[in-house]
Amino acid sequence: MTTALHEKLKATNLKDHIGSKIGLSKAQLLSGEFAADIRELIEQRGVLVFPKIDFTEEEQVAFTETLGTMAPEMDGELLYKVTLDSSANVKADYLKGSMYWHIDGTMSKVPVFASILSGRVLSKEGGNTEFCNTYAAYDALSDDDKKAIEKLRVSHSAWATLFYYDPEPPLQKVQEMMRIGENNLPLVWKHASGRKSLVIGATAHHVLDMDHMESTQLLVRLREWATQEQFTYSHTWTVGDTVMWDNTGTMHRATPYDPNSGRMMLRTKLKGEESFEAA
Ligand code: OGA
Ligand code: MN
Repeated sequence: MTTALHEKLKATNLKDHIGSKIGLSKAQLLSGEFAADIRELIEQRGVLVFPKIDFTEEEQVAFTETLGTMAPEMDGELLYKVTLDSSANVKADYLKGSMYWHIDGTMSKVPVFASILSGRVLSKEGGNTEFCNTYAAYDALSDDDKKAIEKLRVSHSAWATLFYYDPEPPLQKVQEMMRIGENNLPLVWKHASGRKSLVIGATAHHVLDMDHMESTQLLVRLREWATQEQFTYSHTWTVGDTVMWDNTGTMHRATPYDPNSGRMMLRTKLKGEESFEAA
């Protein structure tokens, strides 16, 4: 479907339910003139791709600033190095969890609105970034399912992701991750816009007040549902690409790549504007 908004942004859709490629020039993006339109389209499409836009570090920050208030990392950094190379990022370990479907910031009440990632150094194999549309996945559920999950709440934690990549971690590591805390969130996010999306992913540990096997089955079933082909887009990177996702209506993951490949992505983030508990 092509709309007036698509025409303005020179946008073409990548899949029916997710993703649009933007054809504007770097100068047009940096002018800020299209910021409101970009925000509108990303809420509709989940993911926007700016192929080979070749932002410098300063330009990536400047572009992000045109779109809203930036969310710095915990140590105040505006630009974050997404790499598994621990000599380039001391927290590289945590990023091992990024290879599993997740939403950024489920440890906060108000997660980041959007993340912007640019490809700097790529791995020879693997290392795609994949996205799924959790609005579209919710919408396509049966009415019975919608009703059954409507009021459920889920415990999210960073430590839940640890076991994905380190199945037999030392106790000290478990305790360190547990100190980050747990966050109980609604399974269905009722946005102020009236739309609803699923809040699941690797940080989702269990559904509160539910038998534990039933809880695991439900979370796995919803993950499987939301990540079906029709709701997903897999981005194969070219150096210089920038990809932006609406973190409030998508999940994402990196496909496996060699931790020693030197793969390096630079990330900026936009501050969250809506609590998981919104409406
Ligand atoms: C992230 C992330 C995936 C990737 O930056 O939040 O999950 O492909 N990145 O590196
Ligand atoms: Mn992430």
